[in-house]
Amino acid sequence: MAMGRAQWGSKLGFVMAASGSAVGLGNLWKFPYITWENNGGAFVIVYLAAVLILGLPIMMAEILVGRRAQQSAVPAFEALGGRGWSIVGWLGVLAGAVILSYYTVIAGWSISSFVQCLGWSFNGYAAPSADAFDKFLANGPLQLGLTAVFTILTAVIVYRGIGGGIELATKIMMPVLIIILLYLVGTALTMEGRGQALSMIFTPNFSELPPQGVLLAVGQAFFSLSLGLGAMVAYGSYIGKKESIFGSALWVVILDTGFALLACIAMFTIIFSVPDLQGRLSGSTVGMLFITLPDLFYTKMPGGAVLAPAFFILVGFAALSSTISLGEVVTSLMIDRRGWSRPKAVIVCSGVIFVGSIFAALSLGAVDSLSSFELFEGKKGVLSNLDHLAANWLLPLGGLGTTVFVGWFLGKENIREELGFTRQGIYFAMFLWSLRVIAPIAILILLGFVISGRDFS
Ligand code: PHE
Repeated sequence: MAMGRAQWGSKLGFVMAASGSAVGLGNLWKFPYITWENNGGAFVIVYLAAVLILGLPIMMAEILVGRRAQQSAVPAFEALGGRGWSIVGWLGVLAGAVILSYYTVIAGWSISSFVQCLGWSFNGYAAPSADAFDKFLANGPLQLGLTAVFTILTAVIVYRGIGGGIELATKIMMPVLIIILLYLVGTALTMEGRGQALSMIFTPNFSELPPQGVLLAVGQAFFSLSLGLGAMVAYGSYIGKKESIFGSALWVVILDTGFALLACIAMFTIIFSVPDLQGRLSGSTVGMLFITLPDLFYTKMPGGAVLAPAFFILVGFAALSSTISLGEVVTSLMIDRRGWSRPKAVIVCSGVIFVGSIFAALSLGAVDSLSSFELFEGKKGVLSNLDHLAANWLLPLGGLGTTVFVGWFLGKENIREELGFTRQGIYFAMFLWSLRVIAPIAILILLGFVISGRDFS
């Protein structure tokens, strides 16, 4: 198996592709709006703690499993732990399919924002009416069309395989995205609302954190870092034997968290600076990314008319590098496990998942029964229920399986060797302890809350 398996061109190739998976709508779309809804500060602290205490070790564990086994999640867990453990991989494949089915819907919004910005760039900016975004959400054919475009884009890149497709694409777009985001933040910080925004994000006030906010932050850490579904197992299987797993994982975590915080700073500052913006957001916080930023581009930023469309293209690319990894989780299973050819795996999997997307895309106001569908209490619509299912059940469960497996069943020597420690010193002990004890207990508490009916999405 080890022979002939494709490898990343370099360590940078892995870090870029893995952070391409991690950085996406979770950072730019979801983190800012749930941080807003949970009153910032304390929520951000809990999120950062979750990233450090759970995210980093679990990411290392996933990469480790992949590189050790040289296979994607299902066969990897089976090869290292026996049949029973492959269930962790299967769970991940299910999570990947679920996430992909609604992620492409939101990713499609980046395409429409791009087109809208092109219009503004040529004809001048006019702030949209308060209900414009809700109307857009309720436009069924449009939502379906955008989702279809995004699904096809994803399929084409996954079809081209590692290296030629994934690595090349992410290497080009990640750095550009960072630069534009920094410029956005720099400009935002000249606006008067910056003080309020920064204090909302960075001044913790634990009495303002809703109880379910803690749990929400943990789920978001899994989602944002692409953990709990074997994405990093698959990518880890392509990382060279000489690369440091800790170093690679740390880079991905830093980049991912940086993106999330920068996005928050830019958006919150705009919200506090532009008078009518809170009103425009009230009905659809979910559209924060797409509602707030054009204001900054077109009213404050030199060069904004060029950068606004560019930015939304890059948001699309960031989403694309995430959907690619989700697609890779599902298709690589069919290839490694069922012996399917890559083209067949890509076509069949994309088709099946798109059927799910249809329900998600029409659940934003277009079709009443789908929009009022409620599987989890308080969740309205197919899309938000799928999101809840994935972030609050499937990813934490997958993460639990991974930590328990690596911590207790993989064997100390295997771990030590794979991490490149020459002996079992203090850092090794810390890593083992967090995998064996801290991470599983934290996740069990989290799942306990979910089972007892506490909503945290
Ligand atoms: N981490 C991605 C994001 O933040 C979403 C994702 C989750 C991608 C799980 C792959 C696997 O947008």
